[in-house]
Amino acid sequence: MAAIEVCKGIHSVGVLNPNMRVFDVVMKTEYGTSYNSYLVEGDHKKALIETVHHRYFNQYIQNIEQVCPLNEIDYVILNHNEPDHSGSLAMLMEKIPNATVVLSQAGSVYIKNITNRTDLKVQVAKSGDVIDLGGKTLSFVSAPFLHWPDSMFTYVKEDKLVFTCDFLGSHYCEPTMHDQEITYLEKYKFAFKGYYDAIFGPFKPYVIAGLEKLDALDADIVCPSHGPILTKGGLLGYTKEMYKAWSTPAEHSEKVIPLFYCTAYGNTEQVAAAIRDGILEVLPGAKCELYDLIDHDLGEMGALLNSSDAFCIGTPTINRDAVPPVMMLLAHVDVINNQKKPVLPFGSYGWSGEGVPNVVARLNSQKFKVFGEGFKVIFVPSKEDLEKAKELGREFAKSLS
Ligand code: FEO
Repeated sequence: MAAIEVCKGIHSVGVLNPNMRVFDVVMKTEYGTSYNSYLVEGDHKKALIETVHHRYFNQYIQNIEQVCPLNEIDYVILNHNEPDHSGSLAMLMEKIPNATVVLSQAGSVYIKNITNRTDLKVQVAKSGDVIDLGGKTLSFVSAPFLHWPDSMFTYVKEDKLVFTCDFLGSHYCEPTMHDQEITYLEKYKFAFKGYYDAIFGPFKPYVIAGLEKLDALDADIVCPSHGPILTKGGLLGYTKEMYKAWSTPAEHSEKVIPLFYCTAYGNTEQVAAAIRDGILEVLPGAKCELYDLIDHDLGEMGALLNSSDAFCIGTPTINRDAVPPVMMLLAHVDVINNQKKPVLPFGSYGWSGEGVPNVVARLNSQKFKVFGEGFKVIFVPSKEDLEKAKELGREFAKSLS
């Protein structure tokens, strides 16, 4: 991708990565991504906003040099330190050693670990601080947990434009970088939702606070660090509305208590059904459904777990462990917002039976409130086993009311 003018004096100089299919090890990216970076040129000074993934450094430098010589850059502003945005910083600073790196207080803590340099000129930006480039005034807005503690926004008042890093971004890649020129809008919307779920879903209260900060700025243009630039005449209103809707707690009068499980021979499934029957005896209005993880998308199951009031999770034992889909589901847990959420673990096993205790250990490490010690049945559950499971369901439900 070549440099693209966003508005007079501001260029997008980032890099497209249309072929990426997995981001950060766990996130599917069906439509690639972009590592966005922006060059802001004032009358006296110039600032780069973010860098890019280290693998794309050479292309990145070429894009910058289409707009201005590297040695004219005075500031490198990092709204967030994750390596997809800071990965090229160390190499870049070898080329522009006199530039000042600007970042939040939280961001400043790890900059030496990211670059392995202690000689960089670093300036900490607090909310309300200003850098005057000459006709382009940068101001900084702290935006913690959008999505890590170091995050901040950088606003250019003359252009009513804000750089938000990951906030309102998307892993979506089309050549123009402009929301009003997206060819496959439904695919963009799908990618935008997936990005929100993976990156911002765990930080819903902070998302609401971030939207309020954006509203206070009344920006016409939002430049995120992944995906298309958003404008008031384009998708900015839509993206803000969606973030608000997805981040506002759903009101439900009845409890949502899903039962997730895997079952090799139907035994763990029988236990799941008995627990559900016990729960529904005590809480007849509860939304209490069985989900065999083999038949469902783990991302969707993770979202259901994260939004539930409580849940049950069942595993057989195979190879002296819980089965992979169960552990994969737990890898989708938003551990910040699920602390102390009640959970009932269970499962059938033959021989050694490590599956349930291993799940219990994992749940404890994630700070769930584990009900009981993990209900285990040997091989095929007997009538007595199923009655015990049902009673356990009743007790679990009573503990929730
Ligand atoms: Fe795109 Fe949190 O990095």
